[in-house]
Amino acid sequence: MALIETRELTRIYELDAGRVVALDRVSLDIEDGDFAAVMGPSGSGKSTLMNLIGCLDRPTSGTYRLAGTAVESLNANGLAALRNREIGFVFQQFNLLPRMDALGNVELPMVYAGLDRKARREKALRALERVGLADRSHHRPMQLSGGQQQRVAIARALVNAPSLLLADEPTGALDSRTAIEILALFQELNREGVTIVIVTHDADVARHARRVVRFKDGRVTADQRQLPRDAREALAASAEAVA
Ligand SMILES: Nc1ncnc2c1ncn2[C@@H]1O[C@H](COP(=O)(O)OP(=O)(O)OP(=O)(O)O)[C@@H](O)[C@H]1O
Ligand SMILES: [Mg+2]
Repeated sequence: MALIETRELTRIYELDAGRVVALDRVSLDIEDGDFAAVMGPSGSGKSTLMNLIGCLDRPTSGTYRLAGTAVESLNANGLAALRNREIGFVFQQFNLLPRMDALGNVELPMVYAGLDRKARREKALRALERVGLADRSHHRPMQLSGGQQQRVAIARALVNAPSLLLADEPTGALDSRTAIEILALFQELNREGVTIVIVTHDADVARHARRVVRFKDGRVTADQRQLPRDAREALAASAEAVA
C-alpha cells in the first residue's frame, strides 16, 4: 500500500480576477519509505500539492488517501489529528518562534498533543540530540546559524515520530554546504524509515532523492527513479578537496 495516494487531485483557486487551476488532476503514489523530490517552475503547483498532501488544504475535486485513510471523509478535528500523527513539516524560512529557545520550539507540537511537561522535555531533548544540537538546546533562533535553525525545525517536525516528512524548499535559505548537511540528515532519517517529500528548485538537491517528480502547469510531466547521491560521501569528498 502506498503511504500517499492521490487520484485526479485538483485544486482551483477562484479569484475575482479569474480562476487558477493550481493542480490539475494529479494521480500520484508515494510508497512508504520513499524519498521524492518535487521540481518544477515557479507557479507549477508544488506548494499547492504539499499543502494538500500535508492536510493543510482541501482539494476542489479528486481524492487523497494518507496511510489508508480517505482524507475527504475527515472533519477538521480528524484532519488535525491525522496531521499530528503522520506528518512533520519543514519550511524554507524555518518558522521558529523567536522568543523561545530550541527546546521550547521543539516542545510545541507536543503541547498541542497534550503531553505533560516532563515527557515533553525528554522527547524534545532526544529530538535535538537526533539532529546533533543537544548542546544548543537553550539557544534562541537568533543565536543559531541558519543550518542550526533548520535542524531545530527538523527536530520539531520529528518529535511526534511522523511517518511522513514534508519539506518545501528546506535548503532554499542555506549555503550549499549546509544544504548538503541537511540532506545527509534527511537521508539518515529516510534510511530509518521516514518517508520524505521535498520541494526544490535545485537539481543538486534533487540528486539526493530516490525519485524526482516534475510539475508544469499543475500537471506531472516526468517521474523518474534514480540512484541517489550520498550526501555524507559528498561532504567527505569536498572536505578532502579543501585539505
Ligand atoms: N492562495 C492562493 N490563491 C490564489 N491563487 C493561488 C494561491 N496559492 C497559489 N496560487 C496560484 O496557484 C498556482 C500554483 O502555485 P504554487 O504556490 O503551488 O506554485 P509553486 O510551484 O509552489 O511555485 P514556487 O516555486 O514559486 O513556490 C500559481 O499560479 C499561484 O499563483
Ligand atoms: Mg512554492
